[in-house]
Amino acid sequence: MAYVALVPAAGSGARMGERLPKQYLTLAGRPMIHHALATLCAAPQISKVFVVLATDDAEWQHHDWRVLDDKLAVLRCGGETRAASVRNGLQAMADRVGAEDWVLVHDAARPCLTVAQVDALIREVGDDAVGGILARPVADTLKRADSASRIAATVSREQLWQAQTPQMFRHHRLLQALQACVDVTDEAGAMEALGLQPKLVHAEGTNLKVTWPEDLRLAELILANRET
Ligand code: C5P
Repeated sequence: MAYVALVPAAGSGARMGERLPKQYLTLAGRPMIHHALATLCAAPQISKVFVVLATDDAEWQHHDWRVLDDKLAVLRCGGETRAASVRNGLQAMADRVGAEDWVLVHDAARPCLTVAQVDALIREVGDDAVGGILARPVADTLKRADSASRIAATVSREQLWQAQTPQMFRHHRLLQALQACVDVTDEAGAMEALGLQPKLVHAEGTNLKVTWPEDLRLAELILANRET
């Protein structure tokens, strides 16, 4: 049984307010996506790293990816949503992976992933029948807002976790799940829609998703701190 990674990178990143899709914004001297790809390529268990680009992506070719090893494979089959991009990627890679192989889906917008976190996920999911995801228990008090941005309610944080990526599932089960349901914001959501219960594996808070402009600076600080 092999482990492969799939990185959906076909989004526009509209919330960043930039012309370039966020995965290409410069972070610590490289396009943001480079960092996640480098970590996944460096993880010894992972044999192949597939990246899903938008069909009209004009940016990838302007960067030099040779420093990443030959694990990297580009699929130009992005979809309208993240889930559709992942589903299309799973279909496009189908002749290169086994049905029971594990696919670790990781957002291009989480550049601070470490090889140690990939190891922990693979180790803790083990040969689980369903699969699992990196996640963190919610630490803040949660408020539900009304349409006027006033607090309508306090939501209990008990047993609430924040989902991160990678999320790992067997190729055929994940494809089946995403063919049945793409109205989800992560892979676990598609598995849940099949009535399955993916495992939660404790993650580090530094594996943040770059969504807003200030996240870029924070990610840069995390990466810089690691290099020293
Ligand atoms: O926008 P958001 O941060 O939720 O995107 C998460 C990941 O999904 C990013 O890596 C983004 O490029 C990818 N994505 C995609 N296809 C889309 C939308 C998002 O591959 N249509």
